[in-house]
Amino acid sequence: MANVSKSLSTNVEGHVFVDSTYINCDTCRQLAPFTFQEVGEFSSVSHQPQSPTEMLQAYQALLTCPVGSIGTIEKNKNLLLKAQQSFPILLANQVYYNGFNSEKSFGANSYFVTHLDGNWLIDSPRYLPYLVEAFEAMGGIRYIFLTHKDDVADADRYAKKFQATRIIHQADQEAMLESEWIVEGQEIIQAAPDFQIIPVPGHTAGSLALLYKETYLFTGDHL
Ligand code: SF4
Ligand SMILES: [Fe+2]
Repeated sequence: MANVSKSLSTNVEGHVFVDSTYINCDTCRQLAPFTFQEVGEFSSVSHQPQSPTEMLQAYQALLTCPVGSIGTIEKNKNLLLKAQQSFPILLANQVYYNGFNSEKSFGANSYFVTHLDGNWLIDSPRYLPYLVEAFEAMGGIRYIFLTHKDDVADADRYAKKFQATRIIHQADQEAMLESEWIVEGQEIIQAAPDFQIIPVPGHTAGSLALLYKETYLFTGDHL
């Protein structure tokens, strides 16, 4: 919960603020670029949101900030609910951004892809009843693809809830020991129709990318 008494001096005055308890993960700047900008090493409110779209984006950022560092002077419950219900956000062609980034994965983004042969969760958001219901409504989770050991967050809880198959490379397996599918070596794998697993060692020895429909590439922390 953000604390107004710790509000950064770099925030412009108004309804939305960032406090000093955070990590610089970039999530708010991606979700609400009008409102949040990098000042020095951290994110601050550079413009107060004005339009309905800017307000919604600022509230989406508030909910997604992994360490709860974004606050508002007064709580707008309707907007908060609307922002919650906007997740997962459709990006394109059955590809969704989940929001609710986890501090356990350093604020990394996680994604969801719906597919007739089973849905994919790519890395993990926080485990929240709201998201569990949203995934259930979209047909559950068949695979949980872990790009690398830094971003597993609550994958174990989602796997248990949905009886999902967790996929991780052997070199990063320490982060999710009970994973059901351990990728070995550096060969490209046709994992399911439309999904290719591409080993990309570098950031970590077991980093993996996932290519969906030869168009959407989930790279973990590589890009
Ligand atoms: S989302 Fe939160 S932790 Fe990440 S940069 Fe914004 S205020 Fe900082
Ligand atoms: Fe990483």
